[in-house]
Amino acid sequence: MQDFIFQSPTKIIFGKSAENQVGDEVKQYCDKILLHYGGGSIKRSGLYDRVVKSLKAKGIEIIELGGVKPNPRLSMVREGIKICRENNINFILAVGGGSVIDSAKAIAAGVPYEGDEWDFHTGKANPKNVLPIGVILTLPATGSEVSASAVITNEDGWYKESMNSDLLRPKFAIMNPELTYTLPDYQTACGAADMMAHVMERYFTNTPHVDLTDRLCEATLKTIIKNAPLALKDPNNYDVRAEIMWSGTIAHNGLLGTGREEDWGSHKIEHEISAIYDITHGAGLAVVFPAWMKYVYNINLKKFIQFSYRVWDVEVDLDNPESTALEGIKRLENFFREIGLPTRLKDMNISDERFEEMAQKCTMSGPVGGLKKLYKEDVLNILNIAK
Ligand code: NZQ
Ligand code: ZN
Repeated sequence: MQDFIFQSPTKIIFGKSAENQVGDEVKQYCDKILLHYGGGSIKRSGLYDRVVKSLKAKGIEIIELGGVKPNPRLSMVREGIKICRENNINFILAVGGGSVIDSAKAIAAGVPYEGDEWDFHTGKANPKNVLPIGVILTLPATGSEVSASAVITNEDGWYKESMNSDLLRPKFAIMNPELTYTLPDYQTACGAADMMAHVMERYFTNTPHVDLTDRLCEATLKTIIKNAPLALKDPNNYDVRAEIMWSGTIAHNGLLGTGREEDWGSHKIEHEISAIYDITHGAGLAVVFPAWMKYVYNINLKKFIQFSYRVWDVEVDLDNPESTALEGIKRLENFFREIGLPTRLKDMNISDERFEEMAQKCTMSGPVGGLKKLYKEDVLNILNIAK
């Protein structure tokens, strides 16, 4: 096991009607906020009204910026920074999924910074001072409600890049599983794939002696595998939605990666796809992750066999260990298909036309991935497997 520092400082308020506590939570920080949200799901569901009521009851002044698009854009972040500066706003409340939360984080980092916000995404600068943000989560998937990253798309060239800083972790995350009843099936499934990918990016490592985190990863994966199909069958089942929501947070608050080298190659590749084709991140991962696995499983065959056996109940074939590893990958792909996700790029009408560009952008700052370092040629090979 490697040395590590673990911190997950976000206060989680989890349960039925939890959103009604938002006024009390925000009041601890300020009396004026930017209320940031997406394309309207929170208005249709009635959540917006409840949030405004709770904030107003505490005398909090609200300035709004709605309209965040999935794969959130830099232009919106710039607009948010301008509004916060002009109105002297020192707190941002994000109500929505990962896109809204990431946009809020990027605004929070950009307001006190004199240079260009994009500097944070190219490694030119690191945030030193970030406005506090709070979250009401409506889509369990990205783990952004607790994570230290924000992923933003720059429309100028369609670059999708993350920024990372512990300062970006939200002060609080309000998580009411009831808020996820209105999710379209496709978003529920994409969310499941994303959280599974967050676990697997940590699970497949060359670091030895990580028994505890291996078992925690397997438990989280098994919980998602059991509950995602149940949520699709019975969308208003509170307990099922609660299991999924909590899994999404556990998958990405850093705990499962403690003491081990992480991978993140599949995420880097997927970000190139969603930057150009504007697909849902979780769907892109359902395509890329199995392709990556087929490309690298021999690097740590033992780990892939363990994955097959412990997560997918594959019987180990001692005479042909590779077949055991491949069977686990096949079951993962079948699972993605069963919950309604694509497993090939062609399922999303993506051809090989821009593979070169994606592979080039993905590796422009050097190789990606921990289990196996992936160079441009490797990324091209993985995209070809995913075709
Ligand atoms: O915009 P609205 O109208 O709110 O609709 C959204 C959006 O169309 C809808 N939605 C959300 N909650 C809903 C709902 N519809 C009905 N009922 C609800 N309760 O779902 C659609 C997708 O929302 P979005 O926020 O884009 O999805 P997600 O949470 O999957 O976020 C994806 C973004 O997060 C990034 C991804 O790359 C992508 O840009 N990621 C962020 C990470 C992080 N910050 O730690 C890590 C991840 O690996 C990921 O890269
Ligand atoms: Zn992800």
